[in-house]
Amino acid sequence: MGRPAASPPLSVGLAAAAQAIAHRMSGGQGAIAPSSSAVTDLIYRGTRYWGLAQVRCGRLAKQKPDPEILALLAIAWAAIDQTLRETHVVVDEAVAAAKLLTRSAGRSDTVAKKISGFVNALLRKSLSDPAACAKDHEQPIARWNAPAWWIERIDSDYKDKANEILDALTTRAPLTVRLCEPHLYSQQFIEKLNEKGLAGYRVGQHAVAIEPAVPVTEIPGFSQGWASVQDSAAQLVIQPIQDLCQRLGRRPKILDACAAPGGKTFAIAQSVQAEIWAADVSPARLKRMRDDWPRVKPTSQASVQFILLDVLDERAWDQKLGPAAGFDAILLDAPCTGSGITRRQPEIPWRRDQAGLEAVVDIQRRMLDTLWRRLLPGGELIFVTCSVFAAEGELQESAFLGRTPDARSLPSPGRLLPVTDAECGNDQDGFFYARFQKQKHDGPDSGAACHRHAVVGPDRER
Ligand SMILES: C[S@@+](CC[C@H](N)C(=O)[O-])C[C@H]1O[C@@H](n2cnc3c(N)ncnc32)[C@H](O)[C@@H]1O
Repeated sequence: MGRPAASPPLSVGLAAAAQAIAHRMSGGQGAIAPSSSAVTDLIYRGTRYWGLAQVRCGRLAKQKPDPEILALLAIAWAAIDQTLRETHVVVDEAVAAAKLLTRSAGRSDTVAKKISGFVNALLRKSLSDPAACAKDHEQPIARWNAPAWWIERIDSDYKDKANEILDALTTRAPLTVRLCEPHLYSQQFIEKLNEKGLAGYRVGQHAVAIEPAVPVTEIPGFSQGWASVQDSAAQLVIQPIQDLCQRLGRRPKILDACAAPGGKTFAIAQSVQAEIWAADVSPARLKRMRDDWPRVKPTSQASVQFILLDVLDERAWDQKLGPAAGFDAILLDAPCTGSGITRRQPEIPWRRDQAGLEAVVDIQRRMLDTLWRRLLPGGELIFVTCSVFAAEGELQESAFLGRTPDARSLPSPGRLLPVTDAECGNDQDGFFYARFQKQKHDGPDSGAACHRHAVVGPDRER
């Protein structure tokens, strides 16, 4: 029998995690695949400390280090604070990781020595002054791990509720699944988790949070399509579609205009009898969705057609769907900043800027107007973003109603604020839902005018 393989030294994991974080933070497309779950964990911890590392380096260093070294320091400070290992071990391994990073970048031994010396000095300097280090955590950029403009946006949108929202967005989210009844009910699912030594908490009608998180292949019922990973707020798309089916009394034709990787399409397909057209502009994301479909299909009540399509491109639309194509319902789960899901992806605030926010708001506006033309009279458009910014929620909704005389606002889940408290049965990402019905005629009693007042501001929950 061979001896079990020794796990690689911590320095190797630290260097790999630092490279992955730097890649993400520099706007690199596609994540560098982590070599192990230990590296994935270091990436998450370091990403959560990116703001802290900026604040602390600003205080202690004359010059801001390169992104990889900044990321290495972020991970090391997180590991020290969270006592991942003994402090002296973290410092020694971080110094070794700095040498690995500099050498793998093709730099000389002299440079490697200088940079590892810098890492050593900075970590030791911080350890010598715990009071100053505690104060670093109070800086908004460190506390909420986001740039100043991002925090100011949430402040101005939510006023005295802002801190609570920012706190919720900086806590770690559990792994949440959507259960496909009657194949799997929550109580049954929780018992199956308990048998595996895991805990489960109900956080929505079909939603159960799993603690601790496990790879999807270990989720009971995953391979049969009875359980799928989806946040509880994202699952709320099901109810409006069920209402629509009941109102129409027939199998509706639904366009999911931004469908990939399929979370909402599959939730709808497993809940109602419908003809679904799932469109997305990204070939890679659409492929991922198509590849996952066989898992879900046996328990689906709907047919799903996959279409590679830029929904803003009217000519491509006509070619792929026909000029007269109209839908009973259109789901626009729009591209957005993702400001409501930073519990899961803490790098998001650092990868966006204000110009990017304005650009995405403009894309959402154009998508709303384009898709509206494809909706049949009496049909419904559901607009969703996983953002807490009012510009991508309440303001987008009221502007649309203001310029669309044949749109009537219908009840919807509305503004959903992020909450992290799975054990209390309350856990969700930040989302926004609006629902519009297309009036059958343009009479004086139809549409926006009488419904504009129904829009609720971000500081009021619905
Ligand atoms: C928020 S994600 C959708 C998530 C998906 N609905 C789910 O629940 O899994 C937004 C999607 O919009 C797609 N997208 C962006 N611009 C688009 C366009 N012009 N036409 C079609 N899809 C677009 C992106 O590729 C991305 O997959």
